[in-house]
Amino acid sequence: MKNWTRAEKYKYLTDPMEIRALHDKAAASQYRQTFHVQPVAGLMNDPNGFVYFENKWHLFYQWCPWGAVHGLKYWYHVISEDLVTWKNLGVFLKPEENYVYDNKGVFSGSALTVDDKLYLYYTGNNRDADYIRHPFTCLARMGEDGRPVKNPGPLFGPHGSYTENQRDPKIVAMPEKGCYYLILGAERHDKHGCIIVYKSEEPLRGWEFRGELRVPGLENLGNMWECPSIEHIGEYDVLMFCPQHVELPGRGHSTNHNGYVIGKMDWDNLIFEPEGDFNVLDLGFDSYAAACANNIQDDNKAILEAWMGLPDASYPTDEEEWAGCLTLPRELTIREKKLVQRPYPGLKKLRADELNIIKNSDGCCKIPSASEIEINTGSGDLMMRLFSDDKGNGGISVCYDDMKKEITVDRSGMKRRFNVSDGESRSGFLPMGLSQLRIFADRSSVEIFVNDGEAVFTSRVFPTVEEHFIKIQSGDALMHIWTIKPSVKDDFTV
Ligand code: FRU
Repeated sequence: MKNWTRAEKYKYLTDPMEIRALHDKAAASQYRQTFHVQPVAGLMNDPNGFVYFENKWHLFYQWCPWGAVHGLKYWYHVISEDLVTWKNLGVFLKPEENYVYDNKGVFSGSALTVDDKLYLYYTGNNRDADYIRHPFTCLARMGEDGRPVKNPGPLFGPHGSYTENQRDPKIVAMPEKGCYYLILGAERHDKHGCIIVYKSEEPLRGWEFRGELRVPGLENLGNMWECPSIEHIGEYDVLMFCPQHVELPGRGHSTNHNGYVIGKMDWDNLIFEPEGDFNVLDLGFDSYAAACANNIQDDNKAILEAWMGLPDASYPTDEEEWAGCLTLPRELTIREKKLVQRPYPGLKKLRADELNIIKNSDGCCKIPSASEIEINTGSGDLMMRLFSDDKGNGGISVCYDDMKKEITVDRSGMKRRFNVSDGESRSGFLPMGLSQLRIFADRSSVEIFVNDGEAVFTSRVFPTVEEHFIKIQSGDALMHIWTIKPSVKDDFTV
C-alpha cells in the first residue's frame, strides 16, 4: 500500500490532466461499476447536497482526486432526471488556499432551494499553520452559470463547548414554524458524540446556537456523530447518524456503523424521543454516511443514498488507485413503526432481457456482471450461493433459518476477501419469515433487499472471473434473473 505524505494527499488539483492517467487506469478495471455512481479517479465517500432542483436530482459527493486516500476533499457533482441514469458534471466545490475557511477540504453537507436558487451548506475544514483543525459552517450558492459562489465568510465557526469534531451540517426547513435549523454532528470534550443545533429565521444568515439535541438512552453512544439527519416520514421522525468508534453485537470488530432511531422530534425543546431501539440502517457490510434528498415534496417518504464503503477500511481497488461508489437510491417509508427501505421503484427501468427463471435447486446459473435477481421463496429454510464458481462452491452464502427466523449473509467464501476483522458474516431477524429477495449485483457490489424492504444487506464484492454463478442449494424458491442496463458513463469529466 502506498505511503502518502501530507503534501501528496493535500495537493490542490489545478488541471484535470493531472489525473487523466489515474482515470484511464481506473476505467480499465474489471471492477468498474455500470449502474452505481463512482469516482472518475481517486476516492469517493459521503453523498452530499442531495436535492431535487429545477426538475433534476442533484447529488454531490466527497472526492479526493489523488488515489485511494482520504486526502483533500472536493464536492463532485452528478445529476439525474430519474434517479436511475446519472451524468458526471465534474468538480463543484473546491477547497481554496485563499478562502482560509476550507483550505484543507470541503467536507460534507446538505442543500436547500430558496427562491429558485440552490444553496449548499458544508463544513469548511480549516487547518492552521500548526495543523490544528477549525471547522467552519459555510454556505455557497449555485450561480447562473452552474458554478459555485461562496459566501464571503462562514455562517459560523466552531463552538467552544465541543472538540474540533463539529461538522456535516444538515439543513432542515420548517415553513410551518417560519424558521430553519442546521444540525451538526459534534463531540463533547469528554469525547461523547452528540448533535448540536443552530436556528435562524432566514436560511442565509442570522444563525444562533440553540443547544445540544437530547436523545434519551443514547447519551453515551460512541465518539463524534458523523453525518446526522432528521427526516420526517409519515407520522414519525427518523434520526440517522454514524457514531464513531463503537462496536455493535454481531458486527465483528467494525467500528463504523450508520444507525437510526425512529421517534418524535421536539424542535422547540430539542429532544428526540426514541420510540424504538437504535438499529443499523443497513445490515450488511459497506454502507455509511447516508443522506436523504431535500425538497422531494412527499411527507410520507424519504429518498436515501449512502456511501458504499467505510472509513478506516481498504478495498481491493485501492491498488488500482480508486475506491468507493454510492449505493442505489432507496425509498424509505415507515410500516408499523418500522423503517422500510425499498430500491427506488424507477430502477425497474434498467431491467433488460429476462434471462432465466429457475425453480429450486436446478443447478448453477451464470449471472451477468450487472444483474437483478428476484427470488420468491416458499416456507422453510433457504440456502443459496451468490458469486459461486460453476460448481456452486464458494461465493457469498445467503441462508435463512426458519426456526430462528434469521437470515445470514456470509462473504467469507469469496476468493478476494477484505476487511476481514470487521467480520464476514451479518445476520438479521425476520419475525414474519422470509418471502422475497431482490438482489442487485454490479461489477463490484451487491445489495440484497429482503421482504420488500424489511431489511437490506449491502456489500462490495470483488469476484474473480470464475465467481459468477448463483446456486440455490436447498429450499423452495422461484428465481428470475435480468441483465441490468448500464446507467452511469465512465467518462472523464473533471
Ligand atoms: C464521514 C466524514 C464526514 C466528513 C467527511 C470528510 O465519512 O468523515 O464526517 O465531513 O467524511 O470527507
